[in-house]
Amino acid sequence: MNRRNFLKFAALLSVAGTSILPKISYGEDIKISQKRILGKGRYSLEVSSLGFGVMGMTYNRGPIPSRKDMINLLHKAYDYGITLFDTAEVYGPHTNEILTGEALSQFKNKIHITTKFGHDIINGKYNYGKLNSRPEQIRKVAEESLKRLKLDTIDLFYQHRLDPKVPIEDVAGTVKDLIKEGKVKCFGLCEVGADTIRRAHKEQPVTAVQSEYHIMWREPEMIFPVLEELGIGFVPYSPLNRGYLAGKMDKNTKFNPKNDNRGTLPRFTPEALEANKSFIKLLEKYGKSKNATPAQMALAWLLAQKPYIVPIPGTTKLNHLQENINAVNIAFSKSELNNFNKELSKLQVFGDRYNKEQQKQVENKA
Ligand SMILES: NC(=O)c1ccc[n+]([C@@H]2O[C@H](COP(=O)([O-])OP(=O)(O)OC[C@H]3O[C@@H](n4cnc5c(N)ncnc54)[C@H](OP(=O)(O)O)[C@@H]3O)[C@@H](O)[C@H]2O)c1
Repeated sequence: MNRRNFLKFAALLSVAGTSILPKISYGEDIKISQKRILGKGRYSLEVSSLGFGVMGMTYNRGPIPSRKDMINLLHKAYDYGITLFDTAEVYGPHTNEILTGEALSQFKNKIHITTKFGHDIINGKYNYGKLNSRPEQIRKVAEESLKRLKLDTIDLFYQHRLDPKVPIEDVAGTVKDLIKEGKVKCFGLCEVGADTIRRAHKEQPVTAVQSEYHIMWREPEMIFPVLEELGIGFVPYSPLNRGYLAGKMDKNTKFNPKNDNRGTLPRFTPEALEANKSFIKLLEKYGKSKNATPAQMALAWLLAQKPYIVPIPGTTKLNHLQENINAVNIAFSKSELNNFNKELSKLQVFGDRYNKEQQKQVENKA
């Protein structure tokens, strides 16, 4: 059934007052028209209300699909109206930026490509767990990322993790110089608290903060007041909790030890995968009347929190891309959101989001 016929069929069913709808299939006429703004004034970016995280196409999400398929999928995302694509030097390292450049640099004036510096990568080898935001390293990464991405300017250059050895003013000042030189347009930070945001913003206005945020991890809400005060956007990463919120995982789910960091996370042990199913049930409960999947409800919930939020789910599959994009059409009424959040606040998350080593690199948000 094509989409037009499906809509007609759905309309007929709703006139008849029945709730029996066929399984949703998405046609080719998907288009995101909703836009959101990250940042303020000269340092703002207007982007599609949902972005795309490229990471999993080459890094940390299991088997790596064919390059050709991933380029086609990124082109589909562009055709569907996505204008924000996220990568980083460390993803691979380098393979993800190279893929992003190959697939998307041809659309460079119509989309925004964001990347990140801050991990210690020497001659293409990641010195695991070590950080490096020294000014000379930031400059080097900028030059090399521009080449890999096949761009003249990086639209948004994030510090990936705070480097305790380098004052944030020096980091912001270095990016400020790169902006003056035309190599970077905007500056961003990941996983930082309010004080760091303020100090950085004084030196160079921050366009967006990117941190993990979804119904199972709400700590970033602590920084929303400072983001609102300074006019900074917020980009939730892993908005589906690394796929968990799509509701397809259980205690038998296995993660490829070679290229999937989920196996190292306390929230992805067999016990945690089972114990946290209450979150999926909540998404299913509220999704029923909207004919929406748990993944769509998880994304719609994020979009409903604040108008300056732009989630960046990642996928390697066309049907997931289509499903996720359709989340932008799912609205929560105020009372629905209140009721959802009331129920959500009663749920307990089993397992930490990061192991001790990874947790050391993220700043407390308070
Ligand atoms: N700043 C940071 O420190 C940081 C850290 C992590 C990630 N990120 C960024 O955030 C982006 C997204 O994060 P993420 O990949 O960790 O997590 P995510 O977007 O929450 O989840 C991605 C996973 O969910 C699956 N998935 C996506 N849509 C689905 C659907 N509709 N139904 C079922 N499964 C679905 C994907 O598998 P399939 O391929 O099978 O669809 C993939 O394994 C990354 O690409 C990266 O750009 C940033």
